[in-house]
Amino acid sequence: MIMGPPGAGKGTQAERLVKELDITHISTGDMFRAAIKEGTEMGKKAKEYMDKGQLVPDEVVVGMVKDRLSQPDCEKGFLLDGFPRTAAQADALSKTLDDMGIKLDGVINIGVPRERLMARLTGRRVCKACGASYHVIFNSPKQEGVCDSCGGELYQRSDDNEETVSNRLDVYEAQTQPLIDYYSERGVLLEINGDQDINLVLKDVLAALKK
Ligand code: AP5
Ligand code: MG
Ligand code: ZN
Repeated sequence: MIMGPPGAGKGTQAERLVKELDITHISTGDMFRAAIKEGTEMGKKAKEYMDKGQLVPDEVVVGMVKDRLSQPDCEKGFLLDGFPRTAAQADALSKTLDDMGIKLDGVINIGVPRERLMARLTGRRVCKACGASYHVIFNSPKQEGVCDSCGGELYQRSDDNEETVSNRLDVYEAQTQPLIDYYSERGVLLEINGDQDINLVLKDVLAALKK
């Protein structure tokens, strides 16, 4: 599992980690954005919460993740990005993994001070085709507006404006940050400094996983 506040670099690191480890990337945020794009009922419901920077209700998220984990591409291993985000989701995940006979290897917690996150998020650009994350200053694509890895068009997420980001950060601190203690008590937490170059963060994560 990879956790951290909005803009910590979960998606950026997950993209690289799943390639390196040959496992499946499961991002609940990406799944909701795909549902919105497809115009499904779940997508419509999720959008109302996402645009305000609030969490989608636990029942919706938990059901979606359970379905996803039962798919064949998860058999080789998976990385959860952006799930769980509440105590209820963490409990549901723990039960689901027990039922499936799967042991959680580790929880990567990417730490970045709050004051750095606004600039990261308001300058983010995302690939419409493959979901890769870029930044206009910190991680710019070779050609403006075009994805380096697939040539797709880059866009700005509708929740990456100052007002919504500020809500997302408050929601993170109130509802998700407490999970750091939850996983620390279970002895699975890997604390990573996310306030350094992207490649150095990756290096630290891989070293922590090896240990
Ligand atoms: P989600 O899509 O998960 O958004 P988030 O948690 O707010 O996290 P982000 O994706 O914004 O940040 P990230 O850590 O992935 O950063 P990234 O690598 O892109 O969720 C969106 C919404 O969906 C939620 O608000 C909620 O409504 C709903 N939702 C999702 N899951 C849910 C759940 N479980 N329960 C309920 N609701 C749920 O990087 C950010 C930027 O920084 C990029 O521009 C990147 O290039 C740059 N960057 C990355 N690393 C570095 C670095 N080391 N140095 C400099 N810049 C960097
Ligand atoms: Mg992300
Ligand atoms: Zn792409």
